[in-house]
Amino acid sequence: TFMIRTGEPVATVSKTMYGVFFEDINMGADGGIYAELVKNRSFEFFKPLMGWKVAQEPYREGAVLVLNRREQNTANPRFIRVTLPAGKPGSLSLTNEGFRGMGIKKDLHYDFSFMYASRAPGIRLRVALRDPKGQIIGSATVTPQATNGAWKKQEIRFTATETEEKAQLQISFEGSGGIDLDMISLFPGDTWKGRKGGMRADMVQMLADMKPGFIRFPGGCIVEGFDLSQRYQWKKTIGPIEERQLLINRWNFEFAHRPAPDYFQTFGLGFFEYFQLAEDIGAEPLPILNCGMACQFNSAELVPLDQLDPYIQDALDLIEFANGPVTSTWGKLRAGMGHPEPFHLKMMGVGNENWGPQYLERLQLFQKAIRAKYPGFKIIASSGTDPDGPRFELLNNGLRALNTDFIDEHYYRPPQWFFGNTKRYDPYPRTGTKVFAGEYASHPAGVAPEKKNNWLAALSVAAFLTGVERNAAVVEMASYAPLFAHTEGWQWTPDLIWVNNLKIFGTPDYYVQKLYARNKGTKVVPLTMNNEVVAGQDSLYASAVLDEPAGEIIIKMVNALAQEQSVRLQLDGKKKPAGSAKQIRLQSDDLNGINSIEAPQAIAPQETEIRLSGKRPRVTLAPYSFTVLRIRYS
Ligand code: AHR
Repeated sequence: TFMIRTGEPVATVSKTMYGVFFEDINMGADGGIYAELVKNRSFEFFKPLMGWKVAQEPYREGAVLVLNRREQNTANPRFIRVTLPAGKPGSLSLTNEGFRGMGIKKDLHYDFSFMYASRAPGIRLRVALRDPKGQIIGSATVTPQATNGAWKKQEIRFTATETEEKAQLQISFEGSGGIDLDMISLFPGDTWKGRKGGMRADMVQMLADMKPGFIRFPGGCIVEGFDLSQRYQWKKTIGPIEERQLLINRWNFEFAHRPAPDYFQTFGLGFFEYFQLAEDIGAEPLPILNCGMACQFNSAELVPLDQLDPYIQDALDLIEFANGPVTSTWGKLRAGMGHPEPFHLKMMGVGNENWGPQYLERLQLFQKAIRAKYPGFKIIASSGTDPDGPRFELLNNGLRALNTDFIDEHYYRPPQWFFGNTKRYDPYPRTGTKVFAGEYASHPAGVAPEKKNNWLAALSVAAFLTGVERNAAVVEMASYAPLFAHTEGWQWTPDLIWVNNLKIFGTPDYYVQKLYARNKGTKVVPLTMNNEVVAGQDSLYASAVLDEPAGEIIIKMVNALAQEQSVRLQLDGKKKPAGSAKQIRLQSDDLNGINSIEAPQAIAPQETEIRLSGKRPRVTLAPYSFTVLRIRYS
C-alpha cells in the first residue's frame, strides 16, 4: 500500500522544475533548429568553399574568386566575386550541399536571398533545387539590378514541386558581367511562427509540447570553447546576421566516430533568438556565460583575475540587453531587433563544468558585481563533471559558503546509477543554495552509435526523478542533456530528440521528460510504503504531488520488474478522491526498445480513464512501466 498524506504538503514544486538544455551539439542549431538550408553561406568556414562545388558546364570561361576584406569587415570578411566575359556560351554554377543535404517539402515555398554588389550588370542567377538524381524540384531566376558597387539584399520566393530529404541548391550564373555575392541563403516557408530566417517549426513544437519551465542556452562546452579565444561571446551573436561573426564549433573534430570538420556556429540563432524562443514556449530564459576559464581543463587556460572585468561586464550587459529600458545602451539594441518589452531575465549561469579554487575565485567576482547592480538576480554556479567525487564535495562546500543561489550538477551515468540514486537529494540541506540538475542522462552500456536512448535508460530516469520530485525543496530545476541530435551529424549519444532533414522523433526519454514537466503539480506530498519513501523496494519507485489549480493528486510510479505489480493507494488527508482517474502509461516489455525515424511512437504514452473503487483502490503497474495517475479530488 502506498500511503499518500495529501493534507501535509512538504514542499512547493518550483515553476521552473523541468526544463530543457539547449546546445549546438549534434547539429542542434546550425543544420538543426536554425532553419537555414545553405551551409557556409558567407564563405567563412576554414576552407572558404567548404560545402560548395563550382562547375562550368559546358566549359564556360569565367571565374569564381574568394575575396577577403578583413580590413573593412572583421566580422564577415569573405565574399565571392563572379565574373563572366561577354559572348561566351554555357554557364558557371555553384552548388551547395546543405547540411547532409537539404530537406525540401512539396508545395512549400522557399525564400532564396543573397547580398550582392553589382560590378558590371548583366549576370542572371538561375536557382534550382535538385534531387540526388539531378532532377529539378523547384527553381527561380533572378536578375540583380546595378548597385554601383554598394551591397544590397535581394530575395526571391519559389515553390518546391517534390519532397526530398537530400536536395542540393544549384545557382547557375548566366549572361555576362561581374557580381560580388555574400550571405547566400535559403529558408523554408514553414518556420516557427512564420518568422523569416527563423527556426524549424517541428523542432520548436516538440519543445513547446513539453511545457518546459526554463530553457538553458547556449550550452554546454561551447560556452567555454577549446580555448578562450573560441569561447561563446553573446555580443557577437546579436544584430544583423551578416554582422555576426562565425565561430568554430567546440564539437568540430571532436569524437572520432563522427568527425564534423564542417561544424561552425553562424549565430543566425543568437542570444536575441534564444530569448524569443524562451518567450514563445513559456520557459524562463537561462543563459550560461564563460567565467574566464576554458573547457574542462582547469590548468589549460585561465583569465588572470585582474583581467576578468570584460567577462563580468558581458554578464552585466546581458542583463541590460534582456531587461533594460529602451533608453539604455543594450536595451536599445534589443528594441532595435524588434522587442522593446523586456525579456524578464531572472537568472544566469556563470561557467560550465568549471571547478577548483580558480573557479571559486572567479565566480566570487561575478557574483559580487551582479548582486551589487541587480539585487535578487539569481546566480547559478557550475560544479564540474564528477558529482560523486571528492572534488565535488569540496566545491559544493565552497559554493554554499559563498551563498550562491544554485549549484549546477551534471551526471551522465549508467541506468543502475539512476535507479540507485533516487535518495541522492534526501540528505541535502533544505535551506541555502538550491540544486539545478543542469545536465543528466542515463547512458546504457555499449559504445556509440549502439548506445541509444533505450527503454531501460528512460525507465531509470523516470525512477530517479521520483527522488528529484520528492526533494523539490532542494532541486528547483532539472534538464536532460543533450537535447537534439541529427541522425547523420551527431557527436554524442544518447540525446533527447532526433531529427533528419525532414522528420523528427522523441525518444522514450523525451516522453519521460514531457510527462514530468506536464504533470509537475504545485506541492509535494509524502508518499510512503511501510513508513518509508518508495525508492527501489520491490523495484518500485513513486512520488506524489498536488496540482492545486486543477484539483488533482498526481502520483508517479515506476515498476522496474519484468512482472506486473499491483499496489493499493491510501489517500490519507482532507482530499476525497473521485471514483475515476486519468492514467498515462509509458511501457515496453523490451528494455532495449527504442523509437526511431521509422517507428517514432514505438514507445509513447497511452492515456486511459480508470475506475478507482473502495477506500484503498488497487492499481496495476505493468511490467517495466512508468505510470502517471491524475486523481481528481474534492
Ligand atoms: O551535453 C554534452 C556535454 O556534456 C556538454 O556540452 C558539457 O557541458 C558536458 O560535458
